[in-house]
Amino acid sequence: MNVTIIGAGNMGRGIATRLLSGGHSVTLIDQNEAQAAELAKQLQVSAKSGATVGTAPSGSTLKDEVVVLAVYYPVVAAVVEQYGKQFDGKVVVDITNTLNDTFTEPRFDNTSGAEEIAKLLPNSKVVKAFNTTFAGTLISGQVAGQPLDVLIAGDDSAAKALVADLAQAGGLRPVDVGPLRRARQLEAVGFLHITLQGTLGTNWGSAVKFIS
Ligand SMILES: NC(=O)c1ccc[n+]([C@@H]2O[C@H](COP(=O)([O-])OP(=O)(O)OC[C@H]3O[C@@H](n4cnc5c(N)ncnc54)[C@H](OP(=O)(O)O)[C@@H]3O)[C@@H](O)[C@H]2O)c1
Repeated sequence: MNVTIIGAGNMGRGIATRLLSGGHSVTLIDQNEAQAAELAKQLQVSAKSGATVGTAPSGSTLKDEVVVLAVYYPVVAAVVEQYGKQFDGKVVVDITNTLNDTFTEPRFDNTSGAEEIAKLLPNSKVVKAFNTTFAGTLISGQVAGQPLDVLIAGDDSAAKALVADLAQAGGLRPVDVGPLRRARQLEAVGFLHITLQGTLGTNWGSAVKFIS
């Protein structure tokens, strides 16, 4: 399938790399169209036979069933406003880590970014995923020889299954963690993982993984 990614930055690159390696195609949209074009050019080498990577101008029609919001949380409201009803009926993947404006604490106590985005998009199927995977680790999809876990929360089972299939095709291990309100815990884990980079000395190369 073709997936639209809004935001051609670090996570746009990482998620697109996994999608393309899984044989899926990608359309990149960024407010900086030259940056999206450059990333698309670089990513073509990751594409499994048949998969393509292209770009669309900012504000153009969203054609795909799955749209990944690969932008910072404070930008999401503007993106929602820009595309409006185009998000209706779509699977919208929220990957944000919701830190406060000084990046020192979580932004929310009694809600999550995902739940707040779902309020903005009542006619979309919002799925939380990829917030616990660092962008650099998505390039290979592995840390220490182990596939990354992609922890997925959402209230629509079919939407979660679709995101899980996309992750699995890209060599990742999807884990359904429950309803969208579990995003509160995912965002807390994402925050903790960020704060631990200095302590662990892993330079954004660590992974959150459940092993048995
Ligand atoms: N980096 C990680 O390891 C990581 C891990 C997990 C989750 N996340 C989450 O992933 C999201 C993206 O992070 P990132 O590291 O990929 O950030 P990034 O490298 O800054 O990429 C974001 C991209 O979105 C673009 N953008 C900003 N506003 C836009 C708009 N209105 N329409 C289209 N594109 C727009 C930015 O353009 P400009 O540069 O011009 O602003 C930039 O190219 C964040 O919510 C973050 O919390 C990141």
